[in-house]
Formats: sequence, structure tokens, C-alpha cells
Amino acid sequence: MIEGLFRLDGKVALVTGGAKGIGAMITQGLVESGAKTYISSRSASACEAFAQEMSQYGTCIALPMDLSNLDNIERLCQQIGEKEEKLDILINNSGVSWGAKLGEFPEKGWDKVMDLNVKSLFFLTQGLLPMIKAASSPESPGRIINISSVAARIAGGLDAFSYNASKAAVENLTKVLANKLAKDHVLVNAIAPGFFPTKMTSHFDEKELIKHIPLNRTGNPTDMAGLAIFLCSKASNFMTGTYIPIDGGQLIA
Ligand SMILES: NC(=O)c1ccc[n+]([C@@H]2O[C@H](COP(=O)([O-])OP(=O)(O)OC[C@H]3O[C@@H](n4cnc5c(N)ncnc54)[C@H](OP(=O)(O)O)[C@@H]3O)[C@@H](O)[C@H]2O)c1
Repeated sequence: MIEGLFRLDGKVALVTGGAKGIGAMITQGLVESGAKTYISSRSASACEAFAQEMSQYGTCIALPMDLSNLDNIERLCQQIGEKEEKLDILINNSGVSWGAKLGEFPEKGWDKVMDLNVKSLFFLTQGLLPMIKAASSPESPGRIINISSVAARIAGGLDAFSYNASKAAVENLTKVLANKLAKDHVLVNAIAPGFFPTKMTSHFDEKELIKHIPLNRTGNPTDMAGLAIFLCSKASNFMTGTYIPIDGGQLIA
């Protein structure tokens, strides 16, 4: 019964921000599970180097793009459309944060964060939907996985006002899209990471933050890859509209 339950052979995936940090952890999980995986972010050199590194495990292709504006999102959809007839898996991972004291928080800190974390996520999903629907059936539903954050649900002391709001928006959008797309056999779920050491968290005091994590450690690549593989595989065919924290217990502490 469980043979191949978690395999992704024959699937085509796109991971935004797939060359670095959490995106890279997910990319490696998908590639090693058999999915042909496209990765896209601003840095062409990072995308190409990581795709090259992943080629020892399977197929990974770099499609560099700055996804903060609609013209580029359209361009990326077009590029994928020229290469593939269908897309089984979309991982909306690219994201940015902004920290500033309440009294000094600038408008730019809202625009930059909401544009990439929410607006681009929506328009990339919209642009790729025809290809995702083409890949979807009751036996093999398409997948959209949005990378949210525990920050959507907690009032941390990090002064990341627009970031927390953006992730709460991602969480709600996940539910709205899941409801809308269920009839098309497209499953939409969110992963909410706690603390994974990446560039985004490099300015955090790790020792201090771990004190708030019951499992007393940070997240690692196999933690993230495991959940992403599960949410992309047949093992999760009956799950949509969910929000899964992966945080060592931080949310319940
Ligand atoms: N690390 C954590 O503890 C944590 C916790 C909760 C949620 N998250 C979420 O996880 C996701 C990944 O973050 P991370 O921690 O892995 O941080 P990261 O290493 O800073 O990764 C951010 C990713 O977004 C890409 N990106 C940034 N601006 C972009 C743009 N304009 N167009 C396209 N791609 C862009 C970056 O690639 P380029 O620089 O090449 O563009 C990079 O791959 C984010 O959504 C973040 O909010 C992280």
C-alpha cells in the first residue's frame, strides 16, 4: 500500500526562492523524490549554481527572475509555459522581511514586503493556474504550497509589522484559494516555519530564540524537506486549506 506513497516521479515543480535557505531545503527534497524542479529568484548565479549542485540527485533547472513586479511574473509564467505543458507543484516560498521601530516604520517597509510576500504570490499563482489545473485530477491533485510563518499567529517582539501582517494574509489566502480550487482538484496548503537559520534570520540571537522553542533547537533541512515532500505527495491527497506549523513547539509554548 505505501510503496511510492511519498515519491514524486514524473511531477513538475516550481520553487520560488528555491536556491537559498528554506527554498533550497524544499528544492532538494523534491529533486531527490523524483520531481523535475524549476527554481526562480533574483540571483541568476545562485539559481544556476544550486541547479548544478542538485543535478547529482535529479533534474533541477534555473529560471532566474525578480518576482517583485507583474511584468516579470508574466515573463516567468511564459517561460515555464514554453518548456512544460503542465505544472504539478507550485511552492510560493520567496519572501522578504523588514524591521523597524513602530514610530519609524516606513511606507517602503510595507510596499516591499506586501508586494513580494502577498501580491506576487497571488499573481504568480493566477498566472500558473491553467498549467496547474492541466496537471490536476482526483487521483493526482495539483499542489500549491505557500510558505507562511509562525509570525502570522504570534505577536513577537521583532518589530516586523508588515511581515507579520503579510504572513497572516498568506494564511487567509491559502484558505480562500483552497476553497475556490477544490473543484479543480488543486490542493492549497501553507507551511508555517518557526526558526530555521537562513539569511533572513542571520541577525537573530539564536541562543535567545531557542529559549522559546520547546524542542530546544532550530529547524534543519530534513525537517523542512520532509513536510514539503509529504504535502506534495499522494500521502496528503485528502488535505487542503491547512496551515502546518513546523516550529519545534514554538506556537504552543
Ligand atoms: N528562516 C525562517 O526561520 C523562516 C521562518 C518563517 C518563515 N520563513 C519564510 O520562508 C521563506 C524563505 O525565507 P528564508 O528564511 O529561506 O530566507 P532567505 O534565505 O532570505 O530566502 C529568501 C528567498 O526569497 C528570494 N527572493 C527575495 N526577493 C525576491 C524577489 N524580488 N524575487 C524573487 N525571489 C526573491 C531570495 O532569492 P534571491 O535573493 O536570489 O532573490 C531567497 O531565495 C520566506 O517566505 C520567509 O518569510 C522563514
